[in-house]
Amino acid sequence: MKGIILAGGSGSRLHPITLAVSKQLMPVYNKPMIYYPISTLMYAGIREILIITTPTDAPLFKQLLGDGTALGCQFSYAVQEAPNGLAEAFIIGESFIGNSDVALILGDNIFYGSGLSALLQNAKNPKGGTIFAYPVQDPQSYGVVTFDHQQKALSIEEKPLNPSSNFAVPGIYFYDASVVNIAKSIQPSQRGELEITDVNTAYLKQGKLNVQKLDTGIAWLDTGTFESLRHAAQFVEVIETRQGLSVGAIELAAYEMGYISKDAFIALAKPLEKSGYGKNLLRNLQ
Ligand code: TTP
Repeated sequence: MKGIILAGGSGSRLHPITLAVSKQLMPVYNKPMIYYPISTLMYAGIREILIITTPTDAPLFKQLLGDGTALGCQFSYAVQEAPNGLAEAFIIGESFIGNSDVALILGDNIFYGSGLSALLQNAKNPKGGTIFAYPVQDPQSYGVVTFDHQQKALSIEEKPLNPSSNFAVPGIYFYDASVVNIAKSIQPSQRGELEITDVNTAYLKQGKLNVQKLDTGIAWLDTGTFESLRHAAQFVEVIETRQGLSVGAIELAAYEMGYISKDAFIALAKPLEKSGYGKNLLRNLQ
């Protein structure tokens, strides 16, 4: 399975911070935001990753992440000319996807918790689509799932004014290769975007959408506002400080998933010791 990280967008809810630099390069505690979704895909067992950015930010992402070889992965890059919506990722990524299944993760979404790696690995080979549902206090900001009495998804509505449930769809989605044609077939919404909710609705209508309630023991955070960015940083800081373990560290994901050797992991951590990040990485070996 291949993975796409969508790391474009305008970041207007973080202006003026994101006027000159991509939101996904902003720090979340001690590492750039994009490390979190990259590590999530890596823990899902995905090593071939396409990173989609704005045209102006692309060189910075390449400088930060390179081609992924050092992490035992393959990173490639593409640009989205304008923020035309999440579903455009599959049109931009058509040749990258080819005949493979593909996971899409949003560049500003953070997932953390025990059992996450196994849960994501189970979502691979979706035979249609697999998405998740997670209870939140502000469902009107997300795609919202309505379930029937048997907990089967009936519909998904994008940013409803009067949400029918508090189950939002988090920004990680697994699809088979037919997602490219589905994305090509949908029309832009009233706000002018190709909506991921329309992709999910198309799968739902075909009877091929699996909507899994995400265990609330797993944390799902997005980081699009000043407040949520600060909350995410605090969350990571508390866990890292208390446990002495790293959250969202791509070097650790590479080592734990067996993509790189212990020596290669140590070689990645050593030059980062001065900031404390590398020390934290090495502490995971103890
Ligand atoms: P959003 O947070 O919905 O949009 P945004 O990042 O442009 O921010 P704002 O609402 O403050 O203007 O986007 C969710 C994620 O998806 C984020 O990581 C950026 C990314 N994205 C794209 O890469 N391309 C797009 O066309 C859109 C809409 C989002």
